[in-house]
Amino acid sequence: MSDASHAEVEAEFGVPIPGRILTEDLWAKTAVKRLPPPGPLDFATLFGRTAPVVLDLGCGNGRSTLSSALARPDIDHFAVDILPVVIRYFTRRANQRGLSNVRIAVIGGRELLQDYIAPGSVAEIHCYHPQPYYDRREIKKRLIVPEFLSLVHQSLQPEGLFVVQTDNPAYARYMRTILPSFFTVTEQTERWPDAPHGRTRREILALQQGLPVFRAVCHRRDELTEIDLQAAVKTLPRPTFDADRRLQKYDRLESGDVAPHGKRR
Ligand SMILES: C[S@@+](CC[C@H](N)C(=O)[O-])C[C@H]1O[C@@H](n2cnc3c(N)ncnc32)[C@H](O)[C@@H]1O
Repeated sequence: MSDASHAEVEAEFGVPIPGRILTEDLWAKTAVKRLPPPGPLDFATLFGRTAPVVLDLGCGNGRSTLSSALARPDIDHFAVDILPVVIRYFTRRANQRGLSNVRIAVIGGRELLQDYIAPGSVAEIHCYHPQPYYDRREIKKRLIVPEFLSLVHQSLQPEGLFVVQTDNPAYARYMRTILPSFFTVTEQTERWPDAPHGRTRREILALQQGLPVFRAVCHRRDELTEIDLQAAVKTLPRPTFDADRRLQKYDRLESGDVAPHGKRR
């Protein structure tokens, strides 16, 4: 292996980061520094080949996309987050692992679907631990709402897959209410067999802290028409739930502000 001399293994919360750092001549260029003006993204040109496309919305430091891209080299992965700093970490790791099947951009998940994804063009969409937002003034920022699910439905190919999960019980209850209007939902109650410590940084933390993790494996309901989607968006409840401020302390652990034993880093 080209990186046999690289003795240091990167880890977060004690769980190794997937993959290995290659020698520099094998690095990839995964950053999409500037998105084109709104319009359907041409994935064939972007990746230089035609392959199924998987999106990771709110990817954070990108652990789940790293694992998926390493395990599925025949599939192309497009991951986004609104936070440039986490995208920088992720881009470095994806580049160093030579992942030519990954592209990463700074943009909101909803904006990506709305402005850049052609209808019926992606095979899978993943959304791990979207922020619950605790302050009432911020609840309009919640990502998993009927309009967003309608966009997910429209972006997916027939029988396409949507995976969404949260460790916030109120958000989970809300998702359980609205997801079936767009998808056939199966709950993954056990840990992911491919990632028993957690697929993402947040899931690893949630499992280590004993938080309940709601994992929904959703298949697109292909029988739904545009009119059905519009009716669902109009009639489903709004995300007005109380996310429970007491859970905010875990966000500080996740962002690395506070070490797991409670001390400031
Ligand atoms: C709790 S973290 C989870 C990150 C990662 N998916 C994980 O499970 O470790 C939520 C992430 O969503 C990002 N985010 C918040 N609102 C977003 C939006 N509208 N579109 C895309 N990403 C968003 C945040 O910057 C943050 O990185």
